[in-house]
Amino acid sequence: MADKPWSGRFGDATHEKVEHFTESVSLDKRLYRDDIQGSIAHARMLAKIGILNPDELAKIIQGLESIARDIEEDKFSFDERLEDVHMNIEAELTRRIGDAGKKLHTARSRNDQVACDLRLFLRREIQAIGRLLTGLMEVIVKVAEDNLDIVMPGMTHLQHAQPVLLSHHLMAYFEMFARDQERFADVLRRVNISPLGSAALAGSSYPVDRWMTAMELGFEKPSRNSIDAVSDRDFAIEFVASSAICMMHMSRLAEELILWNSQEFGFIELPDSYATGSSIMPQKKNPDVPELVRGKTGKVYGNLVTLLTIMKGLPLAYNRDMQEDKGPVFDTVDTTKSCIEIMAGLLPGLKVNKDAIMVALGKGFITATDVADYLVRKGETFREAHRITGEIVSYLVSTGKTLDTLGMDDFKRFSPRFEEDVFNYVDPISSVDSRTTYGGTARKNVFEAIQKARSFLNDLNHEI
Ligand code: ARG
Repeated sequence: MADKPWSGRFGDATHEKVEHFTESVSLDKRLYRDDIQGSIAHARMLAKIGILNPDELAKIIQGLESIARDIEEDKFSFDERLEDVHMNIEAELTRRIGDAGKKLHTARSRNDQVACDLRLFLRREIQAIGRLLTGLMEVIVKVAEDNLDIVMPGMTHLQHAQPVLLSHHLMAYFEMFARDQERFADVLRRVNISPLGSAALAGSSYPVDRWMTAMELGFEKPSRNSIDAVSDRDFAIEFVASSAICMMHMSRLAEELILWNSQEFGFIELPDSYATGSSIMPQKKNPDVPELVRGKTGKVYGNLVTLLTIMKGLPLAYNRDMQEDKGPVFDTVDTTKSCIEIMAGLLPGLKVNKDAIMVALGKGFITATDVADYLVRKGETFREAHRITGEIVSYLVSTGKTLDTLGMDDFKRFSPRFEEDVFNYVDPISSVDSRTTYGGTARKNVFEAIQKARSFLNDLNHEI
């Protein structure tokens, strides 16, 4: 039996099945950096309040740093009998430096320690996700800029609705990811609080300096309530919820890429390097990358529900149930990062098939609203204009014609208000350019939106 830090209370050794069942080190070893960083800050504080002498502090810091190096170089073997990353590192520290190592856990519990580690970990990962999102947004702006001349059928109910710029459509995703980034930044404010010094749940009877450890670790401030600090995981839940929303956005983008890449749409072609083949059908080029982004979204939603359910109904303060938070949190970090990265890699290689988009644009009477609006401008009521245009569309459907094939005589048969200038309104580009409301799809507006997005991204890059 590996000697447990808590073995004093126990007569019999832990059953090995129990050791295996209760261990978390196989997952939480991933927190080693944060654990060591937290321990060094705690040790410095213990030295400041006189619990460690300078020699002990130096040994602890050196010992912890050497452990960190060994872990990084894959020379450290974690032992599941020592339960978690915290006890593995502490036991090894004591083995390396002797009794000074045994003083490190003074005025601390694994309950505030694990909360501290998870917060440090998430702080780093949220910042990394923020940077990845900036990269994705940069790519979106670039693709939008390169395709400013493409007018496509904007859809509602997946039916042709009104012409829009492809760039405008893509910039909608820029907005979604900008909000996601804001959400992550907001979560970060609540992640960045130090629980250290809350100890098991009640705080500590040692004169610990909680501000000192908080500042050492770059936290904004110490938490206000020791019970809350060790039992709260809403910071992690918020992180996963923000990731779930971000994944939902990515999944919508993924779905559109899949649709547009289909033979039926043919609006885009995915780069060969980001597509995969079929083992049986030689002609196939499958959109597996966006499909997996769409699929992995489900996993992140699952993680959110897992965490919410773990925490639901738990009495205060710490309960071991909470150890189950690691898997969903780590998986969310990995999945979200990899999806953002792969999407940012894929988008610049998209081939936009302008001809197919033009053909689609001609099919669905896409400028019918513009024709109705035209009649209103010529003095018709909107309801009447809507009815007249409906009749035109019905005529076109039954004769297999399209709006752009109608001559002046055809128009006149439906309303005497039609004049030569109606042809400007039937044209999709004129339609697009007429939507000049703030946030609309007119080329001038989208061009400006792209410039603004660029300067927004420049500012972000300066902040980082
Ligand atoms: N491995 C534990 C976790 O991840 C650390 C805290 C354990 N605390 C305790 N009182 N058993 O939650």
